[in-house]
Amino acid sequence: MSSKKTFYISTPIFYPSGNLHIGHVYTTAIADSLTRYKKMRGYETYFLTGSDEHGEKIEQKAKENNLSPQKYVDEMIVNFKKLWDLIDVKYSRFIRTTDKDHETIVAKTFTKLQKDKFIYKDFYEGLYSVSDEEFFTEQQAKKHEDGKYYHPVSGHVLKKVKEASYFLEISKFGKWLKQYFYDHPEFVIPEKRINELINNFIDPGLKDLSVTRTSFSWGVPVNGDNKHVIYVWIDALMNYITALGYNSNDETLFNQYWNHDNAEIVHLVGKEITRFHCIYWPILLKMLNVKQPTTVLAHGWIVTKEGKMSKSKGNVVNPLDLIEKYGSDALRYFLLKEIKLNEDGVFSIDHFESVYNNDLSNKYGNLISRTVSMINKYFSGNIASDFSIENKFCKKLSLRIEEAIFDYNNAMDKLKINNALDIVSDLLRDSNKYVDETTPWIVAKTDKKELQNVLSWLYYSCVVINTLLKPFIVKKSKIAAGLLEVSHIKLIDDLQIANFTNIKVKENKILFPRI
Ligand code: MSP
Repeated sequence: MSSKKTFYISTPIFYPSGNLHIGHVYTTAIADSLTRYKKMRGYETYFLTGSDEHGEKIEQKAKENNLSPQKYVDEMIVNFKKLWDLIDVKYSRFIRTTDKDHETIVAKTFTKLQKDKFIYKDFYEGLYSVSDEEFFTEQQAKKHEDGKYYHPVSGHVLKKVKEASYFLEISKFGKWLKQYFYDHPEFVIPEKRINELINNFIDPGLKDLSVTRTSFSWGVPVNGDNKHVIYVWIDALMNYITALGYNSNDETLFNQYWNHDNAEIVHLVGKEITRFHCIYWPILLKMLNVKQPTTVLAHGWIVTKEGKMSKSKGNVVNPLDLIEKYGSDALRYFLLKEIKLNEDGVFSIDHFESVYNNDLSNKYGNLISRTVSMINKYFSGNIASDFSIENKFCKKLSLRIEEAIFDYNNAMDKLKINNALDIVSDLLRDSNKYVDETTPWIVAKTDKKELQNVLSWLYYSCVVINTLLKPFIVKKSKIAAGLLEVSHIKLIDDLQIANFTNIKVKENKILFPRI
């Protein structure tokens, strides 16, 4: 095994029952940015995303479209991958629950759990939402005046079902799980989600989970009892380890990214699927004797002024429209900086455009542009650097840069993406202020040596800012790195002034034209 530190991150696998919207882009952009950051810290990384393709909902959708389920999902997945390409989401694997290696391990794992007596057969009676793939008891669901039961969050109608089913014996693990939460405070971020889980599910007593269905056939059948199809959540959750070859002939990736003490493993999820990831998933792993992930990071929802995005409200924001008009970097930057990870965040075009103009055009684009232009104008694009700190503004800026790198790393290590971006944004503000304070265009008239010093620090600040923004602003930071002639800088550790003895820049280019 290599001695490099490893980082494994996953997004939820998305249902291909509709097109992806900015909520899905949000999760996936977080995962992509954290992966790019970890690479800049020298980690070996594995980033998994994919699609959750089995189940009744997909079977129904395919029928509505007059397609076989396989054909239907094959077509939907093309759009998923196109979107990820457009927005620079560079995953290590795109797993589909219809992938043969995944299906084989899911069936095999089910059999193992049966053998180990964690799964037994009985009858399931309850209320089920096809759209949300979720079960409820009558107490949990809302009964309306019309006599029907509805999903407490999505509002979808629930249907009564009674059928033979296999059950996963999770009821025995409540005590263990509660203790695990206490012993591993970093397991669920933010902490408020743990309290919800304990109060709503663990303390009232966990119920064994129905894990198969006979009412549809689009899924992985149970070995030796083909009428039963393994229920989507078990099939879906398993993707996090089947993708790495868990329990297959080749466990290299599993050993590299999961199965060792220093493996950092992060699952990103939206708040409404925390229960599946923080109760069922850890218990399933415990049953399989597989180590737990480091952290489940549960983010809030992106909503609009009209509330949660939904087709019926007509407020679904299509990422493709935004990418076409403003570019993929602007969308990534906006989502990752303006949406606070732990809360719901409101998306509006006005806010989006103001962030584009203020942050990307005026602060970032303008700083790079001013700096490159001045180095071209006063030094024909080439300075022998002078990083002395006698000048009080140079000294102040040098300290701010050092502090920003430290705080940024710290925030990113704690997965606090929007805080990390605030830190860069503050350094941008201070660097622009530094230009106004040092007035290089006046110094140019009197003291070339002083100018060399002032512009060296300004250039260095641009390089640092641009490097720290690389995980978020993928395309434009590459262009800016070209202008600053630092495309070879790959690691944050390389950001030492000793590495910039000879400063060179190219002809200026506008990065973010104002809108
Ligand atoms: N297939 C399951 C996940 C299985 S993971 C083993 C699923 N799919 S989903 O397509 O419905 O949703 C995937 C993710 O998108 C969830 O984490 C959900 O929170 C997220 N989002 C859906 N709408 C969202 C917003 N409006 N805002 C932010 N995230 C949202 O659940």
